[in-house]
Amino acid sequence: MTHRMETERSNSVIAVYPGSFDPVTNGHLDVIARGAKIFDRLIVAVARNLEKDPLFAVKERVEMLESVTFDWKNVEVDVFDGLLMEYAREKGARVVVRGIRAISDYEYELQMAMMNRKIEPQIETVFMLPGEAYSYLSSRIVKELARLGGSVKGLVPPIVEERLRAKVV
Ligand code: PNS
Repeated sequence: MTHRMETERSNSVIAVYPGSFDPVTNGHLDVIARGAKIFDRLIVAVARNLEKDPLFAVKERVEMLESVTFDWKNVEVDVFDGLLMEYAREKGARVVVRGIRAISDYEYELQMAMMNRKIEPQIETVFMLPGEAYSYLSSRIVKELARLGGSVKGLVPPIVEERLRAKVV
């Protein structure tokens, strides 16, 4: 291997995009598409142990994510437990990606990013902005809409639309 190739390999940037993804929305997908263009490898990491009461089991969330990210060869889907930073370190990640929609997201994200930096100063949090069409979109809103019989078309990928329909009937 030439020196240049070795340098290129060691310079490859792995990013972790963590979240609940309960379920993945078109807003998440937009961030994944943007992240996949910038980073060499993007690991979409589903948090297993959340206090929240999820609608979809981790396995279902992973299945949906795998299906909708299939075409991106540098995107993979994984599950993590415990501290995000420990997981990111194990994966050799240099970046954690978080999507920020509105200023209201910022306070919580700042707190989390600062705490994460304290835990692992070598890993940077990179905030990405989803397209403005998705700036009002969240998994919580999508679930509420589906529960109340509203249409979620265009807000989530078709596979999620189907699974939501099956869940809420
Ligand atoms: O999609 P979400 O629910 O906004 O994702 C939040 C998530 C899973 C990224 C966050 O809760 C997290 O990182 N949990 C792992 C536990 C952890 O590392 N906590 C310390 C961060 S301050």
